[in-house]
Amino acid sequence: MLKTMPRPASLIHALLVACLAIAAMLPAASRAQESRERLSLDAGWLFHRGEVPPPPVKGHGASYHQAKAGGAVGAGGAEFDDSSWRRLDLPHDWAIENAFDPEENASQGYRARGIGWYRRYLQLPASDRGRHIELQFDGVATHSTVWVNGIVVNRNWSGYNGRAIDITPYLRFGDDINSIAVRVDADAQEGWWYEGAGIYRHVWLVKRDPLHIATDGLYANPVQRGGRWTLPVEVQVDNSGETSRGAVVALEVTGPDGKAVAQGDTRVSVAALGSETARLTLQIPQPRLWSPRSPQLYRVRAVLRQPGAGPLREIDRTELHTGLRTLRFDAERGFFLNGEPLKLQGVCIHQDHAGVGVAVPEAIWEFRLRRLQAMGVNAVRFAHNAVAPEVMDLADRLGLLVMDENRNFNPSPDTMAQLEWLVRRDRNRPSVILWSIFNEEPLQGTAQGREMARRLVAAIKRLDPSRPVTAGMHDGLFAERNASQVLDVAGINYQVHAYDRFHREHPGQPMTSTEDTSAYMTRGAWRSDRQAQVMGSSDDEPASWGQTHRDAWRHIAERPFMAGSFVWSGIDYHGEPTPFQWPSASTFFGALDLCGFPKAAFYIHQAQWVKDRTVVKVLPHWNWPGSEGQPVKVMVASNAPRVRLLLNGQPVAEQAPDRDGIVSADVPYAPGRLEAVALQGSRELARDVVETSGAPARLVLTPDRAALAGDGRDAVAVTVSAVDAQGRPVPTANLRVRFEITGAGRLIGVGNGDPNSHESSKAPERSLFNGLAQVILQTDRDGQGPLRLRATADGLEGADAVLDVRPARIPAVPGAEAISRVGGWRISPPQAARPDPNQVLAENDMNSWGWGEPPMRQVAEGSVWRAYRTSLRLRADRNDGRGRLLFQEIAGQAEVWVDGVKLGEKTSPAPGPLSLPIAQGPGWRTMTVLVRASADAPSGLIGPVSLERGAAPASP
Ligand code: GAL
Repeated sequence: MLKTMPRPASLIHALLVACLAIAAMLPAASRAQESRERLSLDAGWLFHRGEVPPPPVKGHGASYHQAKAGGAVGAGGAEFDDSSWRRLDLPHDWAIENAFDPEENASQGYRARGIGWYRRYLQLPASDRGRHIELQFDGVATHSTVWVNGIVVNRNWSGYNGRAIDITPYLRFGDDINSIAVRVDADAQEGWWYEGAGIYRHVWLVKRDPLHIATDGLYANPVQRGGRWTLPVEVQVDNSGETSRGAVVALEVTGPDGKAVAQGDTRVSVAALGSETARLTLQIPQPRLWSPRSPQLYRVRAVLRQPGAGPLREIDRTELHTGLRTLRFDAERGFFLNGEPLKLQGVCIHQDHAGVGVAVPEAIWEFRLRRLQAMGVNAVRFAHNAVAPEVMDLADRLGLLVMDENRNFNPSPDTMAQLEWLVRRDRNRPSVILWSIFNEEPLQGTAQGREMARRLVAAIKRLDPSRPVTAGMHDGLFAERNASQVLDVAGINYQVHAYDRFHREHPGQPMTSTEDTSAYMTRGAWRSDRQAQVMGSSDDEPASWGQTHRDAWRHIAERPFMAGSFVWSGIDYHGEPTPFQWPSASTFFGALDLCGFPKAAFYIHQAQWVKDRTVVKVLPHWNWPGSEGQPVKVMVASNAPRVRLLLNGQPVAEQAPDRDGIVSADVPYAPGRLEAVALQGSRELARDVVETSGAPARLVLTPDRAALAGDGRDAVAVTVSAVDAQGRPVPTANLRVRFEITGAGRLIGVGNGDPNSHESSKAPERSLFNGLAQVILQTDRDGQGPLRLRATADGLEGADAVLDVRPARIPAVPGAEAISRVGGWRISPPQAARPDPNQVLAENDMNSWGWGEPPMRQVAEGSVWRAYRTSLRLRADRNDGRGRLLFQEIAGQAEVWVDGVKLGEKTSPAPGPLSLPIAQGPGWRTMTVLVRASADAPSGLIGPVSLERGAAPASP
């Protein structure tokens, strides 16, 4: 039976907390010298759901401006008024917040997606000037455009790939402010499943020396040759600085026990704006192999040091983990890991979860993957796209084998770049055993499909010659020219009849199922009722193209040449509510439901796949009032030699499980205890029991873990259930439960696994579905102390869970106030006499006045005047009569005029600030600043100009 015992802390968070503790122990001086900063940019965003149509661009002046770098109009622009937008932290999926709507797309789970905008302000210390600064998005669904300071810096047409954007050239430092804007078009679809909407993975700001190791630029994939393990390492070093520079690249490898096992160094020299790759091969003594049973990881660290007169100065560092293992797909005998045959007991899964949609915290991913492992899963196909990097880290750490899949089958430059990004990111990972270039492509059985596949395969081989390439083919395998001819491993979706024929006709080509099964079940439902859109759990409802869980596995288990199975699907997902439509809004295919609660299929696979412990699970529940004396179909899933079934202490059956690990019996119903005893001879190995319960009397909360990191990211799934007065679970309870959260965290989602439920994913209440519901809690940033969840329901005794939130912090970019920056200045030529502040500059005159941004420092012989002019955009939170115009530094005497009215002046010629109140009223205004320079002294707008929010009036 699956246990939901509280565990102390998730793997990722345990590691994180350990790293933070080490960092905290370092003296302040050595922390200050950190050569690379990787800062979370998840917090402090502004969000607007829906399109923000840019104002129409008309006339020469506006047309001219919008065509220039920095001149983006509308919400992408630097000076846009976002004062009414919602504040939120990422990751964020706005689709899961939306109500269900029968007019929306069934495939996407009947929730509107649409367009959304995000903005964030960013202030960088002056000490960052000269560093290489990258903005990294791990995933945005689906099409997105990114602006920095009104300049388009990136467009990305996939919701599944990350990107690293060099934003160094566009940034301002010190008191000045930067704006980031992201337009997300989630009406674009890349799949036929729920894809979510928004910036749903993490965002990072990475600061490095101009001479630095490129993102994903460390490549260290161990190889075994002649019984010895070596680690060929490549380090891509980029130089965004102004001069050619040399550096020492030092490598250090530590083993699973943290002890150094190999080191070496080499040199590189990189031209300005160039890129070079340093190469070095290290020997790994006394190898400790990675395997699902023992996922031993090695860490590889690359440090870049600057040679010079004194001791070498560290200028950048990065590290990754890798693992030592061999893999081989054999045409006769299937998959081999470290020389041993290993049948792939795999599942396909999508990336969403109940309550949170696609914005799934790492800790919930860990919960999902551990549940799959409890089912006996050793392999995962992330269908049909790249997952977040933390999920791949978990696969490496937990010992899962991964089929790493590309989303878009297309070798043209944009989509090829997506595949190359994936391979560069994941080619060091021991978990990855197969690349998959497509899933079920109609061109798979054509000459065109073969050509397209050939190019994608070649691109992978250029970056990673060590792993085989497959694809999920559901036809075309026998066509004269087809994609399987260029694949290392033929991957077959569902075409069970093709297994033997393909093997016969291509005896030298390894094969695997890439997808199979597709059978329906509703968790906790035991009889199908198509009218009510409910599927029973007897594993006798396959899709017309699929097989039952038992049949699908048998076809693979019986064939040594089939490397393994990838069950569709491991976990339910939103959307694709096959075999139904509205009101069903999520799928019925999972072995686990949307919350990760096991269905009957989970136990069937346990019986087939788990080898290291006894499995015995009796199904269904034993609450059948009204069916007394009538036969109830009982299934026991077990890997034991024999199973005895007892009803109220009396034996009702004793059998060896069938070849699928199932004991079936029709048991006349009588309330009480139904027990299954797993036996070896007469020895009891394990037992499982279901009991008839009374009415629900009390709620029970079972958190998956007891302690959490107070970093604003760690999360926990809490199971909500009901028991009767005697403490027996009530598997038929469907009552509504309300939640109250206090302390160091918050509720981020609720679910119950019912594909037909239209309850909110975000409200602090949820109905139990067949006895269960789930609450997902997340800690607050800087959270510490207890996090309490209280559950109540009418007529029942409530329940409390108290979680221990411990201090932890993820290095992050500080939040920045939406400082309204005033930019886009024109500068008049010097004039001997005081200019007219209302002097008209012709709209199409782009040349007689100059252009500039502070600092604008002029030096002239003699005393002269200059006029500086710009359009002032007054945000709603600055035009309430309390806003102030702040000039950080003006050199020279100055007069400030707005729309023909003098606002104020600076009488001293010495450099200094000027702060002036701005009158109430919306819209754009024209501002002219007249500056008078003293003879030969610098003059002008030296410091940034901004619109400040005024202090709130004192309350009466
Ligand atoms: C397959 C497809 C999956 C899913 C499944 C449902 O054809 O690859 O994404 O749609 O069918 O049975």
